[in-house]
Amino acid sequence: MKNIVILISGGGSNMAAIVRHAQAAHWKQRLGAQVAAVISNKADAQGLVWAREHGIATVVLDHTAYPSREAFDAALMALIDSHDPQGQPALVVLAGFMRILTPDFVAHYDGRLVNIHPSLLPAFTGLHTHQRALDEGCRFAGATVHRVTAELDHGQILDQAVVPVLPGDTAQTLAARVLTQEHLIYPRAIERLLVGGV
Ligand code: GAR
Repeated sequence: MKNIVILISGGGSNMAAIVRHAQAAHWKQRLGAQVAAVISNKADAQGLVWAREHGIATVVLDHTAYPSREAFDAALMALIDSHDPQGQPALVVLAGFMRILTPDFVAHYDGRLVNIHPSLLPAFTGLHTHQRALDEGCRFAGATVHRVTAELDHGQILDQAVVPVLPGDTAQTLAARVLTQEHLIYPRAIERLLVGGV
């Protein structure tokens, strides 16, 4: 079985979209793939509740309990790998996981680590992407699924979705429009990776 581990920090709507798609598209039977666990660095992440209610194993690993980024990432790697009998999940999926990862972490999951970012990369890496797109007068915004490298919000682009910026948009209304597209492209990109060999 190809095990997928999803990391979240908050609402978990992308995680839920992936789990729903996995069930609807019969990943288990068709692709021999399953979401094995959802891990959050925040105990109050809303997505944990949804995952538990849908029978997915959840774990909290609180980053504030670790003395350094390196120590947290080492513990996180051990936890992720414990969710695969071979110690190598097929895919580690960042879905609103709001942590910068160490080069060691990224190297450990080389080729098996993907992220979704709420902008049309390479524009607007980092935070506050929607407000920055509005401030720049962009006519279009969107989201990008990409492989993760040691450089923040870089790495091979796997899929993108574009939405219009509409008159009167706020960062909130634009974020909501982009998020609906994230829910379409992220499960689709993961499925392509599973089919093609990660
Ligand atoms: C999503 O918009 C995702 O693209 C973004 O956080 C949101 C998480 O929503 N990720 C980042 O900003 C990563 N730098 P969700 O928890 O409802 O999936």
